[in-house]
Amino acid sequence: MRVFLCWPGQLLAVVVLVLQLAGSLEVQCPIPVIAHGQLKPAQNFTYGSVATLECDAGYIPLGATTTMRCLGSGRWHPRVPACTLGHCPYPPVVDHADRNLQREFPVGTTVTYFCRSGYTLLPEVSPITTCLKNFTWSVIPKLCQKVQCPSPAIRHGREISPRKDEYTVGHQVEFQCDPSYVLRGSQRIQCWSDGTWRPPVPYCDKVCGPPPKITNGQHSGLRTEQFPYGLEVKYSCVEGLSLIGNDSIYCTSDDGVNLAWSGPAPECRVVRCPKPTVERGRMTPQRFTFPYGAAVRFSCDEGFVLHGDAESWCLADGTWHPPLPTCRPVLCPQPQVANGRLKSTSDGKMWYQTNATVTFECLRGYRFSDDGDTSSEDSWTATCLPDGNWTPLPKCKKEGDADVCEEIHYIKTVFECGVPIAELKTLLEIQKLFLEIKKLKVELENLNK
Ligand SMILES: *[C@@H]1O[C@H](CO)[C@@H](O)[C@H](O)[C@H]1NC(C)=O
Ligand SMILES: *[C@@H]1O[C@H](CO)[C@@H](O)[C@H](O)[C@H]1NC(C)=O
Ligand SMILES: *[C@@H]1O[C@H](CO)[C@@H](O)[C@H](O)[C@H]1NC(C)=O
Ligand SMILES: *[C@@H]1O[C@H](CO)[C@@H](O)[C@H](O)[C@H]1NC(C)=O
Repeated sequence: MRVFLCWPGQLLAVVVLVLQLAGSLEVQCPIPVIAHGQLKPAQNFTYGSVATLECDAGYIPLGATTTMRCLGSGRWHPRVPACTLGHCPYPPVVDHADRNLQREFPVGTTVTYFCRSGYTLLPEVSPITTCLKNFTWSVIPKLCQKVQCPSPAIRHGREISPRKDEYTVGHQVEFQCDPSYVLRGSQRIQCWSDGTWRPPVPYCDKVCGPPPKITNGQHSGLRTEQFPYGLEVKYSCVEGLSLIGNDSIYCTSDDGVNLAWSGPAPECRVVRCPKPTVERGRMTPQRFTFPYGAAVRFSCDEGFVLHGDAESWCLADGTWHPPLPTCRPVLCPQPQVANGRLKSTSDGKMWYQTNATVTFECLRGYRFSDDGDTSSEDSWTATCLPDGNWTPLPKCKKEGDADVCEEIHYIKTVFECGVPIAELKTLLEIQKLFLEIKKLKVELENLNK
């Protein structure tokens, strides 16, 4: 250039030449390829024309200048810049929410918000915002609301911590049940960030009042504070006293709603039954005192029999129940002898005491019989035994024909046994012979007389 300036004539000649060339061969700058952008106007890039870079939405020119001129050399000046992805500013602050930790927010970035502790995401809202192409953030609605736990009111009980209109996260509530109710669960609960109470809300359960106290005795529930449904207490008396009534009661419900003890408490009293005496009797066990509930069994001496119950218990009122039995002498019934009678009519009683004796005689034409042989005795004495039986009683048999009777008895048994017919025939033959001999014998006796 300096050369041309030195020689203005020559310079002029060059300029003219160039202009002449330009006129005939117009200078054109190339259409640049620009990622995410283009030049405006989009064509007619002749020497000297000016173009402006326009980036696509979401992109920004890289560099300070965006206008370029097409030089005579067919090049752009300054050089064609590029478009780069634009960024959003920091995302907006959302009430009661935090966002994930990001520092760069190129277009298209999403940012997620989280509700802070004690707050919860409103239903049907998206906690996500996006960096838009115009470098703003998509609209973020109200995201978080304060977490509230439901009112923890309980039946038959109340909050002892001051009541509040709302129960927010971290709020603690303490309960107390009404009298005759017992708290089941935790006495103190807290509202958690998920809107629930933890531990769960307790409830008040009905209980029985303390079991009745008794004088001279105590119950097993002395160290128990609550008496829920089904709990049983046992009573006991001080040494030497008798427990009258049921020794245990339990907490129950008649109507399914109210609880009460299953019955009255027992009593502790001095109960002594008199020593039971049964004449002509014995008792077991042998003891000296007979407190309430004591049981004794009775038996009678020999020759005596028990009338009444063999066992008796000492009752709360000091009496024996069932009433004490008696021992009565064992009696023998009036003895009966076929074809015989009592010798003395004064002996004709219905019942005879032990050791009583009776004397028999046989009717006319009969004799005492002893093992088939007739006896020559005129009387027979029997004694009433302690077991109510008589010593053996006599048999009175027709005089003289005792053996005939025996034989007939024998035949009778044989017939009953069903002897084979042949054998039976033989037997009958023998019988016939026997009877004929007997007949002859009687005839002989008659002849002798
Ligand atoms: C280019 O520019 C010239 C003059 O500036 C104009 O006459 C011509 O029509 C243009 N060509 C196009 C294709 O726009
Ligand atoms: C950016 O774009 C969104 C949607 O394309 C539009 O709603 C919003 O108004 C724009 N913001 C500005 C500042 O132009
Ligand atoms: C004592 O009470 C229990 C329970 O109620 C009952 O089963 C039992 O029969 C009672 N006993 C007496 C002697 O009343
Ligand atoms: C019956 O007699 C016997 C012997 O003599 C005597 O041991 C017994 O005690 C008497 N029994 C009665 C009930 O009298």
